[in-house]
Amino acid sequence: MSVTKKLLGLTLAGGLIMGLAACDAPADTPAGEAAGGDIESVGISMPTRELERWINDGEQLKANLDDAGYTTDLQYAENDTDTQISQIQNQIASGADVLVIAAIDGSVLSPVLQDAADEGITVIAYDRLINGTPNVDYYATFDNYLVGQLQGQYIVEQLDLDNQEGPFNLEPFAGSPDDNNAKFFFSGAWDVLKPYIDEGKLVVKSGNEPTSNDDWASVGIQGWESAGAQDEMENRLASFYTDDKVDVVLSPNDSLAQGISEALVSNGYTPGSDWPILTGQDADKASVINILADKQSMTVWKDTRKLGEQVFTMIESLKAGDEPEVNDEETYDNGEKVVPSYLLQPEVVVKDDVQTKLIDSGFLTAGDVGL
Ligand code: GAL
Repeated sequence: MSVTKKLLGLTLAGGLIMGLAACDAPADTPAGEAAGGDIESVGISMPTRELERWINDGEQLKANLDDAGYTTDLQYAENDTDTQISQIQNQIASGADVLVIAAIDGSVLSPVLQDAADEGITVIAYDRLINGTPNVDYYATFDNYLVGQLQGQYIVEQLDLDNQEGPFNLEPFAGSPDDNNAKFFFSGAWDVLKPYIDEGKLVVKSGNEPTSNDDWASVGIQGWESAGAQDEMENRLASFYTDDKVDVVLSPNDSLAQGISEALVSNGYTPGSDWPILTGQDADKASVINILADKQSMTVWKDTRKLGEQVFTMIESLKAGDEPEVNDEETYDNGEKVVPSYLLQPEVVVKDDVQTKLIDSGFLTAGDVGL
């Protein structure tokens, strides 16, 4: 363990003893101000530049930290887990005090995070939980289960499933099988939709109906690839919908929705006419353009600026020797511990919301989406 961590540990322990002895010490007494002040270098590890949101995430967090005088190293691993591990190893060797990691595969980082722990490095899991290791100190994300619930509830409302008999043809998709978030997205949506499937109001003609939430990966698309979703949708349309139409597609995010949209176009579906309800997530520019063109129904917007600001705040707390604020200490059990987490709230964006929620907030410009 590094000298810094030992000092921080001793100081924190001392602070705790002092706190207990004093009992009424002001809550804001920095327990380890001197040692906490040693937090100067932050390694940021993002999965890929291929998906728009991660570019925003990495650049926003780096800017927040750079402006505050931290030394930062921002790396993108282009969805290759060996590359991400190597980049994290380099950040450890370069003396990072904190690592912020959006894992490509949250199940393969245990060895490298043991190295980080041995150096006394604090690890913050960013947006995606890291599993199978006690060496994750905090998790910052949006409420992933709520993302799915919002998608499911949107479908229920748009089809008026509480009053209509149906049946409506549903095709469900899930995210990448190696992404811990994907099971939460699917579970949130499926917990809303399954009762309507059981009632026969929703029917999965292709048979791609997970038997339970745990079976979510059976409809997963590796790497969140648009092309993978497009191919899968093409197969389902060709095999099961030659004389019928899809009424609704559950897509967990925008990159999949974009591929599904391409498959619908090539199979003769017409926006505003027989186009199915199509969900998404992330407010990617391409998907917002599709929403404006009636080729996607909604997206669940996660303002990544807020996530970057939250992680920055966590790091500033650590630097001050304080415990970072969390608001969930129950949900995210990573197999070794329940990781203290801070969950931000996502929100639905439909066509009529684009100007007020995305453009007026500065998240996108009118030019980004052809307005
Ligand atoms: C998830 C993330 C989503 C989604 C996907 C693709 O883990 O929470 O925002 O876009 O990855 O990167």
